[in-house]
Amino acid sequence: MEALIECRSLRRIFVIGGEPFLALRDVNLRIMPGELVAITGPSGSGKSTLLNLLGGLDRASAGSLYLAGEHLEALDEPALARLRNALLGFVFQQFNLLPRYSALRNVELPMIYAEMDVDQRRRRAYALLAELGLEAQVRKKPTQMSGGQQQRVAIARALANRPRLILADEPTGALDSKTSAEVMKLLTHLNESEGTTVIVVTHDASVAAQCRRRIAFSDGAIVSDESEAAPT
Ligand SMILES: Nc1ncnc2c1ncn2[C@@H]1O[C@H](COP(=O)(O)OP(=O)(O)OP(=O)(O)O)[C@@H](O)[C@H]1O
Ligand SMILES: [Mg+2]
Repeated sequence: MEALIECRSLRRIFVIGGEPFLALRDVNLRIMPGELVAITGPSGSGKSTLLNLLGGLDRASAGSLYLAGEHLEALDEPALARLRNALLGFVFQQFNLLPRYSALRNVELPMIYAEMDVDQRRRRAYALLAELGLEAQVRKKPTQMSGGQQQRVAIARALANRPRLILADEPTGALDSKTSAEVMKLLTHLNESEGTTVIVVTHDASVAAQCRRRIAFSDGAIVSDESEAAPT
């Protein structure tokens, strides 16, 4: 089977005050379709940096990255944007909702880009928001919602186009334990029933424990990569 994600010696250097800083140190990683992966590690260890590269939101300084067989370094911005919209849903650590739009509109946006029919996309946006317990928030703008509510809107938006790959950066970071369990249930259900590949960055051991594969980062490098045996 072809890997969904393949990183070869992936490096990301940031220049801070004129000094190079190695945020990712030649990371090698293969993720197969249908995996459910947790990425853990201390603050500053490079987790978001990796996720941003995997999602085509940032470019590597060296090395190569293949996503669904596409060599990302070879794609120009419009091609990269098309691939992103067709393939993946991204849940940002800082939500990144559009402040002037309602929750409903924020969730509809990826479906507008995908040119989905208006009735269909509105129904789907309502259904996703309802599934995440946000019926009462559909008309609200991000500033009128709590952090946990905004996080759930961001999750609904990521699921809108039924992505094959979900990249979620601390999706439960702003949630209480009950809502966090519901969000994880949704993600594990998508993984099991649709075969959606899910990669979750988390500080929460109970979230990581629900993932069959757990990758730990430290100082820009993978320090452990453990998989549970497949259920028989
Ligand atoms: N745009 C940037 N410019 C300069 N340095 C950056 C930039 N983005 C990240 N860094 C640095 O790279 C390192 C890794 O950052 P990253 O955001 O990937 O950490 P993280 O593991 O996601 O941490 P956290 O758990 O706090 O979210 C940090 O030292 C950070 O300061
Ligand atoms: Mg981060």
